[in-house]
Amino acid sequence: MKTIRWGILGAGHIAGKWALDLAHVEDATLQAVWARNPAKAAEFGKSFGANRVANSVQDLLAEGDLDAVYVATPHGRHHEDALACLEAGIPVLCEKAFALDSRQALEMIECARTRKVFLMEALWTRFLPSFLEGKRLLEEKAVGQYLSITTDFGFAAPYAPQSRLWDPQMGGGALLDIGLYPLFFARELFGPFAEFKVEWIRAPNGVDRRIQVRGRHLGGARSDSLATFDENTSCRSVIEGTLGTLTFERMFHTQTDLVLTNSQGVSKRIEAIHQGHGYQYETAHVGNCLRHGLLESPIWPLSSTLEQMEFLDAIRQAMT
Ligand SMILES: NC(=O)c1ccc[n+]([C@@H]2O[C@H](COP(=O)([O-])OP(=O)(O)OC[C@H]3O[C@@H](n4cnc5c(N)ncnc54)[C@H](OP(=O)(O)O)[C@@H]3O)[C@@H](O)[C@H]2O)c1
Repeated sequence: MKTIRWGILGAGHIAGKWALDLAHVEDATLQAVWARNPAKAAEFGKSFGANRVANSVQDLLAEGDLDAVYVATPHGRHHEDALACLEAGIPVLCEKAFALDSRQALEMIECARTRKVFLMEALWTRFLPSFLEGKRLLEEKAVGQYLSITTDFGFAAPYAPQSRLWDPQMGGGALLDIGLYPLFFARELFGPFAEFKVEWIRAPNGVDRRIQVRGRHLGGARSDSLATFDENTSCRSVIEGTLGTLTFERMFHTQTDLVLTNSQGVSKRIEAIHQGHGYQYETAHVGNCLRHGLLESPIWPLSSTLEQMEFLDAIRQAMT
């Protein structure tokens, strides 16, 4: 399997960015696309040079010409779409949020393991050079011992209950759409939480329009993670330590600059590599995993996805 022939489920915002970034992935091609609106699927297929446009999910999977499928439908569809692919024996890269809850996530993972088919959450940030560099600097104690991490992700999204951002059936709400990024930073860089508190504001239909999770990690450091649809925020992540500060600049979860400031206030900027949108790194990783016959990623394994989904469940349980 030299060239990975990709299929895509969904032809919306993120599918377009991901498909553009395929140009930066060696030995990968767009084979087929399906979306619920046939006209949009056809337009997408034409724009990105797909070899075929499928009439249904089953039609997409039935031809035997796919090495992997990228699931880019809203979160409320991920469980159903990923299971359809896995049951057909086709490896899956599934957008975040991976599922609506950990129960769905576990079913997807168990299906992949039972059928011995590759599955990975498309947590693209984990593969970005800027994230990897920041993680490396922190592990090398560039800021000394960790004291705190403060991350915000907010944009003003008008309340529109029919849109996937707000629709509870599709996993609407700030936590699953954007809150998982600040929480991913907190857990990936500082380790598990020892305790946390949640403050949130409800939209008229009950979903979370703003959510803030403040906690203490097992190592003793603190984190403050904010996600909101109510306002544009700085969208930065600031890690303070005993010897200085590391900032992931706006937008912290993308290909972004890092600023390392020492305790004398002297700063050094580490500029990001800007190539494509940055989705090519996760996609190339999946290709390499498949070529090596792996059933999950050694970098973002299914256990990490499940732990994150369980933590998101715990946060929702704490939302009273
Ligand atoms: N990794 C990232 O940086 C990133 C960024 C944005 C989004 N995402 C994730 O990607 C997923 C899609 O987000 P998006 O912004 O691309 O959404 P989007 O623009 O609304 O596109 C979603 C696609 O799924 C289709 N769709 C919507 N509801 C559906 C349903 N009930 N059944 C079947 N298909 C349906 C849409 O069709 P229509 O066009 O007909 O509505 C469209 O083809 C979400 O899970 C989101 O969290 C990830």
